[in-house]
Amino acid sequence: MTTTTKTNSGVLSSKIQEQIDQLFSTILSEQQKFNTTKSADSDKVDFFKNKLDSYTKNRGREFFYNYISSGRGHGPFTELLDGSVKYDLINGIGVNLLGHSHPLMIKANLEAATVDTVMCGNLQTYVDANEASIALVNSVKEKSRLKHFWFTGSGGCANDLALKLIWQKKAPKYNLIAFKKAFAGRTVATQDITDKPDFREGMPKLLNVFYAPHFNQKNPDTSLENTLSALNDLWERNPDSFCAMMIELVQGEAGFIFGEKKFYEGIFKWAKEKGIYIWIDEVQTFGRTKELFAFQAFGLDQHVDMVTVAKAAHICGALYTEELNPKPGLIAGTFNGSIASIKMGQKTINYLLNGNFYGENGKIAQLEKKFLEKFQQLQTSVGKDKLSYFGGIGTMISFEVRDGNKKVTTNFAKKLFDNGVIAFTAGQDPARIRFLLPLALTDEHINEIFTIVEKTFNEDSWT
Ligand SMILES: Cc1ncc(COP(=O)(O)O)c(C=O)c1O
Repeated sequence: MTTTTKTNSGVLSSKIQEQIDQLFSTILSEQQKFNTTKSADSDKVDFFKNKLDSYTKNRGREFFYNYISSGRGHGPFTELLDGSVKYDLINGIGVNLLGHSHPLMIKANLEAATVDTVMCGNLQTYVDANEASIALVNSVKEKSRLKHFWFTGSGGCANDLALKLIWQKKAPKYNLIAFKKAFAGRTVATQDITDKPDFREGMPKLLNVFYAPHFNQKNPDTSLENTLSALNDLWERNPDSFCAMMIELVQGEAGFIFGEKKFYEGIFKWAKEKGIYIWIDEVQTFGRTKELFAFQAFGLDQHVDMVTVAKAAHICGALYTEELNPKPGLIAGTFNGSIASIKMGQKTINYLLNGNFYGENGKIAQLEKKFLEKFQQLQTSVGKDKLSYFGGIGTMISFEVRDGNKKVTTNFAKKLFDNGVIAFTAGQDPARIRFLLPLALTDEHINEIFTIVEKTFNEDSWT
């Protein structure tokens, strides 16, 4: 029996491999049966309601959607515990980029079962963590100065880690520049970076964060000038006190606000001249633009000092330069992640980079084009008063319902859910409906999705 391969931990023998292959095929063919939308089974409705009520009671507050997964689903389809099957266009708020029960996911889970623990430790690590780190660092090392990767338990924790590294290097310059409508997570530090006061009601303000306007999609020509003027203003009021500029190149929770290469280059040049580090939050954008990272898609490789990832990467953490490598003692932690998620992280990176997903003619560019074309047709059909905006980049597409009123937008999202498409809301003033598309979508799926969206627009119950 071989116990460990160079790149995979766990027990392995020809018998185990044969059984893994058999299980893999059986699980995949069972999951592939979930390949079309379907309404709830009448005999499961009460059971589902009971489960939902008990979970709601337990956690003390209602869910946004009446959703509990049955653990069954394939590609863009997810089955709920009531037997209904819906299009999942939010995929775990960005995690399941490859779609449900993707072969790599099944493999990662089966391979993980051969390992002697569930979680990969930081003190006691496994070759899988090394392999995933190598895949991530290799994907950026050619053009950027990023050299190291450190695992964390979530996207918010990755941002906390990034802040600590930057603070240590820049002490005592602790002030941070962020952008209006930013979202950075729910930790004690990141709730202070997130530009949403109602997300930190009753919380003490622990960080000094100063906000500049992000790119203004309505006034692209004056955007850079406006933001630079705001930055100069911040500098004049708090001279030489900033450690970093933290930015999402595509602001996810704001409903996909993004700029142009020239805008980013302009603000990064300003920061660099003042000795301020550039920290990009790629927690939501990783894998979802025309390159593996959004900073690569915008051609900003030379500028980045710190990049945080999570969600679709299946591993969470920060990539940073040699200069930002911290002193011993600052960073540690029990877990790197589960063995299955770490294996999935490595597989995802290799799969995305070796498949035809990126570049001007890749699958992601095609999905972006198709969705924007379909929204253009839909706007002609339902009218601009109902569908007032649509836009997006890569697999991050959003639209506005009427004037972007938060309540109407929430009602629309819930109606869409009832009709068979799971999306989510984002932003406020205006609020938007947000899709985080899975790569498993075909033209046939897209046509059906737009039939459902159009039907929802034509119903009045959400208004
Ligand atoms: C841009 C961004 N940063 C950070 C986070 C926090 O990640 P997590 O929820 O994994 O802590 C999110 C989550 O939505 C995010 O979108």
